[in-house]
Amino acid sequence: MTMGTLWRSSRIGIAPILLFAVALACGNESGQEPSMPAQAPRAQAPAKPTAPPKVDAVAEAQQVFETRCVTCHGPNGAGDGPASKGLTPPPRNFQAPAWQAEVSDEHLSNIIQYGGAAVGRSPTMPGNPDLTGKPEVVAALVAYLRNLKSD
Ligand code: HEC
Repeated sequence: MTMGTLWRSSRIGIAPILLFAVALACGNESGQEPSMPAQAPRAQAPAKPTAPPKVDAVAEAQQVFETRCVTCHGPNGAGDGPASKGLTPPPRNFQAPAWQAEVSDEHLSNIIQYGGAAVGRSPTMPGNPDLTGKPEVVAALVAYLRNLKSD
């Protein structure tokens, strides 16, 4: 056996281990990445083979609201989150019945996914491109915003 054959056969021996390491790294997607302000409106997440049950979407929407939106929009959507102070225009009050009546579900769904700049609102409103592959979570977020309405 020459040195060349030895080297080659040891390379082949390593390949399955490398593949295994790659598979491990890919298997660790939890779907809970932090949001980044999106400039590219159409970043499509690959379609999932099976849709998660509805109740998961509601829980995920609530979690998204609490972890991403509250910073600016406040815990009850009043526009009083800790990061709202420096924003011009400031986040509006989602509780206001007049505002609730003025905006369509489609508008809410679009601004959540693609951000303010994409729909003629403030560019400081970030998009959430990771949600474009999760229409049921977007719908649950829209419902969440509707539920903030005060009488
Ligand atoms: C960096 C601060 C910030 C974050 C984070 C943020 N927003 Fe906004 N949002 C704004 C600002 C500023 C506006 C524009 C002013 C306004 O319309 O209230 C806005 C606008 C909106 C509007 C549209 C209001 C309208 O009349 O068109 C909706 C709906 C909205 N945000 C929902 C959300 C949701 C849901 C999240 C979380 C997924 C979120 N926002 C995260 C700052 C933020």
